[in-house]
This record gives sequence, structure tokens and C-alpha cells, in this order.
Amino acid sequence: MATILLIHGPNLNRLGKRDSLNYGSKTLADIEALVTAEAEELGHTVKSFQSNHEGALIDYLQNESGNADGIIINPGALTHYSYALLDALIDTGLPCVEVHLSDINSREEFRKISVTAPACIAQISGKKEAGYIEALKILHKKLAKNV
Ligand code: DQA
Repeated sequence: MATILLIHGPNLNRLGKRDSLNYGSKTLADIEALVTAEAEELGHTVKSFQSNHEGALIDYLQNESGNADGIIINPGALTHYSYALLDALIDTGLPCVEVHLSDINSREEFRKISVTAPACIAQISGKKEAGYIEALKILHKKLAKNV
């Protein structure tokens, strides 16, 4: 029914090899498969994209948002400083949920600030890969209300 963009920012292609205490042990492919399977159960399609480049993420949002209904995004470190990504998310006009594997509120000071969260209807942090399923359910409810 709905098309959901699942977007990952810098360094998240390294999941599975990164600090597992913060980020868990799942690879990006594991997470994409998990979200895709759960979305299919709910009748939705997922389009996944990861880039280490801010501009590539913005290009993707500009090119794909017109054919999508919602966004789940883990912007990685761009969360903390990318006003360009904030603007791109706002411009999509789509409901967006921000996900962080780690608890960004219990780590270094700079991680407590999300400049992208104001573009999002919810932020989920610290629930590892389960956070993505929660995000999917939030979008599912929101999109059902819009029908
Ligand atoms: C992250 C948290 C960010 O602070 C960090 O830069 C990441 C991953 C998370 O999923 O916990 O790359 O977004």
C-alpha cells in the first residue's frame, strides 16, 4: 500500500563491524531485511538507501520522495549538524521517523542534539534494531489515518 524510504547516513554501512555495545551486532543488510519483512506483513514496500555523503542523501530524498509515502531515517552523525538534511526532509512533506541504534541522550554531549528531529514526527533512540520496527509501526498508524 505505502512506499517507505529507509535511509541510512554515514558509517552505517559498517554496522556489524562498529562498536557493538552502542550499535548492536546486526549488519545494515540484516536491518534492511528485518524492516522489509515487517513492512511486507503490514502491506508496505520498503526502498533502502545508504550513503556516506550528505549530498547523495539529499539527492535521493529529492528524487524519490515524490513516489513515497513515508521515511525512516538514521542520519548517523549528520543528525547532529546537517541543516541541509533537515531542509531536505522538510521539503519532502512526508511523515518521517528518526531512528538511532544507540541512546544518543546518554553519550557524548554533541550527540544529544538532533538538528534533523524537527522534521520528524518521532525520534526513537537506544533500542538497537527494534527501534526500526517501532518506527515502522508509527508510520503505519500515521498513514492509515491519512487514508
Ligand atoms: C547513530 C548515532 C550517531 O551519533 C552516530 O554518529 C551514528 C549512529 C545511532 O544509530 O546510534 O553514526 O545515529
